[in-house]
This record gives sequence, C-alpha cells and structure tokens, in this order.
Amino acid sequence: MKQILIIGSGISGLTCAIETARRGNHAILVSPFSSERSQSVMAAGGINAVLPGCDSQDSVELHIRETLKSGLMIAGEKTVTALCEDAPHIISWLESIGVVFTRGEDGKPARRAFGGQSRKRTVYAGASTGKQIVTALVQEARKWECSGRILRRYGLMFHFALISDGVCCGALFYDEIHRSLIPLYADDVVIATGGQNRLFGKTTGSTLCDGYAAGMLFLQGAKLKNLEFIQYHPTTIETPQKRMLITEGARGDGGRLYYLDGDRRVYFMEDKYGEKGNLMPRDIVSKCIYDAPSQVYLDITFLGEEKIRKNLREVYDLCLEYLGLDVTRQSIPVAPSVHFFMGGLAVDIRHRTNIRKLYAIGECASIYHGANRLGGNSLLAAIHGGRAAAASIAEEDASGSAPDFSSYIREQEALLLHRLESRSPFSAVYMQNSLAQIMNEDLGILRTGTKLKAGMESLDYYLSVCDRILYDSDVSPYQGYSLHAMLTLGRAILTCAQARRETRGAHIRDDFPQRSDAFEACSLISYDNGNYRVTYEREDKD
Ligand code: FUM
Repeated sequence: MKQILIIGSGISGLTCAIETARRGNHAILVSPFSSERSQSVMAAGGINAVLPGCDSQDSVELHIRETLKSGLMIAGEKTVTALCEDAPHIISWLESIGVVFTRGEDGKPARRAFGGQSRKRTVYAGASTGKQIVTALVQEARKWECSGRILRRYGLMFHFALISDGVCCGALFYDEIHRSLIPLYADDVVIATGGQNRLFGKTTGSTLCDGYAAGMLFLQGAKLKNLEFIQYHPTTIETPQKRMLITEGARGDGGRLYYLDGDRRVYFMEDKYGEKGNLMPRDIVSKCIYDAPSQVYLDITFLGEEKIRKNLREVYDLCLEYLGLDVTRQSIPVAPSVHFFMGGLAVDIRHRTNIRKLYAIGECASIYHGANRLGGNSLLAAIHGGRAAAASIAEEDASGSAPDFSSYIREQEALLLHRLESRSPFSAVYMQNSLAQIMNEDLGILRTGTKLKAGMESLDYYLSVCDRILYDSDVSPYQGYSLHAMLTLGRAILTCAQARRETRGAHIRDDFPQRSDAFEACSLISYDNGNYRVTYEREDKD
C-alpha cells in the first residue's frame, strides 16, 4: 500500500484523499484548518456538466469547444477533453455521496447559464454549491478515516518539500502550537493549497490562500505556468475584510448590468453584445465594467422575490448584511475583483509537476483554463484533478525508502527559530500591504510595460530586505516568515506579465492591445539563484 501525502483539504484535496483510499492506498490529509474553512466553501454558482437527457442541443463536444475558446486556445485539447468527459460522471458520483443539487420542474438537476457558454449547463445547489459539496466530501472522507485509509492532520502549515535527487519524498510542516518543524514522508506528495489570493489583499477568495506553497516550490525548482492570467470576476461588492462575489448565476438567471447617464439606464453590455451581453466571458465583462464612465449596477429585482429567495438566497443575504440593500427592490453596485488564478504549478494531464513524485491539483495547479477560465469549470477541475492525480499515482511504482533528512531538518529548524525571533525595523504587515498594493496597481486589470517594470523593481527591493522583517504581533510569526516565498511568487507573476507582449484573455496590455500568434502558448517560468527564466510551450505537446 502506498502512502500519499496530500497538502490542503478543500474540494480537490478531499477528492484526492477519497479516491486514493478507494484505490487501496493510504492518504495523509494535512491542512492548517478544517475543510469547512477552505476556500471551496465560498464557491457559489455551480459546476458545469453536460448531463444525459437534459438538453438535446448541448453536447460534451460543445463544452470542450467553449472551454478551449474561453481559454483563448492555449489550454490543451486532450486535457480539456478529459475534464469535460469526466463531468457527467462527477455529478453522478457527487449525488451518490449525498450532494443535493437544485431540481427543475421536470425533476432533473436544474441548470443555469454561466458566462461564455451557449447552453445552460451549470448544475447548482442554490447559491452554495461549494458548501454542499464540501459537506458531502467530508462525510465520505470520514468513512475512510474510520477504516484507517485516510489520516487527517490539522494545525500543520506546509514549510517546504523534502526533495532528494529531483524526487519528492515528503514535506516539512510548521506546527504553530509547538513552534517546531514536523517531517512527513510519503511515496508521493500532492499539493492542493488553492490560489494566490493573499498576494492581492482583498479578493473574492480566502486570505488563507497565500500562494506560499507555489512560491516555495518555485524556489525549490518547480516550474510555474501561465502566471500572468488572473481572472477578475465582474460582479463583486466591497466588505470590510474581503470582496464578496455576486454569483454569475444572478446574471445567468437574467440579471442585467447598467450604469446611469443622468437618469437614464445604459445597458452597456446588451448595447455592445446583444441579448447575451451580460453573460459574455468574464474577461470581456470585467473590462467593460472597468471602462464604464460611472458606477455599474446589477439589477435582479425583476426576477421577483420568490425566485431570488429560492435560487439566489446567498446574494439576498449578503447584500442585506453588508450593504443594507434589499435586492428584491434595489440594484446592486458592483465592480470587478481578482477572483481566480489560471496560473500556478505547471502540471501535465496526470497532474505531475516537473519534480518526480510531486503532484498539484485544484487552483494551485495550472492546466485546464488557458488564458481565461469558463465560469463553472473550477469546481469541475478541482474534482477531476483530485481523481486524476490519485489514479495516476496508483498506476506508478512505489518509491524506495526516503533518504535521511534529519540533519538537514535540524539545520532548517535552527534557521527558522532564529528568524522568528530576530528583530529589525521592517514590519511584516507593512510588507504584506506593500505587496498587495504593487500587485493591484502595477499589475491590475489593465497592464503596461512601464508599470510592470516599476512593480518588479519594488519587489526586488522588498526581497532584498525581507530576511530582516519585524515579526510584529498583527500577523503570526509564520505569516511574516512566508513573505519571502510570496514576494518571489509576486515577482514571477510580474515577470510573466512583462514577457507576454500581447493581449489575450485575462491578460490585457494597454501597450500591446492585439493578440499575437507568436504567444499562442503557455508561459513557463523557472527560478535559479535569483534569476527568473520565461519560456513558452504548447500544452499537450507529447
Ligand atoms: O460567479 C460565480 O458563481 C463563480 C463561479 C466560478 O468562478 O466558477
């Protein structure tokens, strides 16, 4: 029986653990927090799948085509095909473990329209699809915990991977309570740590997703892919801690975007793109909102109270709670915000990274979405990726015994404790805020070479001083410690955005507004001793 270490316990990590157990292997599922606190619970709108007998005009081929088109033709056809073909099986499996999807009058799973799709194929559970899926997966994982095939470990933060001769043999974790490092060894290691939200401060995602694992693994030799593609969700609202998503389902159910010209409503998306205007792909809607001459509003009042309360309950609740606004009678002021990272650890169709025995799944991995993800494909990719990684691991030979890392671990422990106890004039909070400001202002929704260069220079400065941080009481010592990897990841994102001298999907360059055939490929970035190297490769090349 192989021992698989899965780091991160959101939807992709849970799925991978369950599938690992089901295939007769043993999973150790490690995370700082419980699954119920993972970002997965925030996923609102739904999951795409072409279900048999639901819509004769829809097909898996159409789902594949629209995913590739939305990704501006740089995602691989083989990988996208595997994703879309798995979708109906994933919905059946989720139903079999207890997910209750909203039903239509015909008794079949109801489907809503999401951006960039010509058919209604997003299956949903009200506006809390992620929560429902996490709940069912946690229950399913517990069964395997009882039979000893899954072991849960909480309160451990990934520190770095244990790699010897290019093979990953486990990982080192920081235990904040005991302030010590704990090694866990395994035949294979799967990273499922989510996106890079904290780099940007307020986003629609969880600030617990800080990109640390991707940044640290990059420093350890893992390649990152398509970092420049960051999706802005068109409709979000401001709250004190974070941006909150107004699900695309609201527009899928008929919600309309407008701004005011005097007293006159201008339905700018419909004016420009016709009937389907409000549901154009996210990159297009976000850019149009960004360009609008005044505040943009989303109107769902005409759906009526009953439908809003039934299908969009979370939208109703969160607007009332945070904005004091009754969406059954008033329009919602919305703005785009960072929502999803198409880029991350570079993986192949089997979810392998370039480091042997190291896999990545979910939002920290880059594979299915190209330059712009289709709404409703993220939950699908998280579950499909978890299944694909577990299957791939099961087919490969077990590794031999791990080399002795003990003196190396002792050295790292001494270094970590020394750093955590050191004092200097640089505040960790100040650095974190500066990083977020650079990422928002110098990268942002509309990019230029000049701004990107300025951002890279600022990050180089912070990187040169980040070993002398004051670990003040506003952030945990470990959060301060993690800045080095986060700043490096930020620097890598800006480098990729600078290198891609074209506009494609979510990467919009004011100074290179056209798409260029020369860049019809994925970017790959690697790190070597302070040097960042960007190359381009077609997905599915072998
Ligand atoms: O708008 C939404 O509900 C977001 C869904 C997604 O990102 O797929």
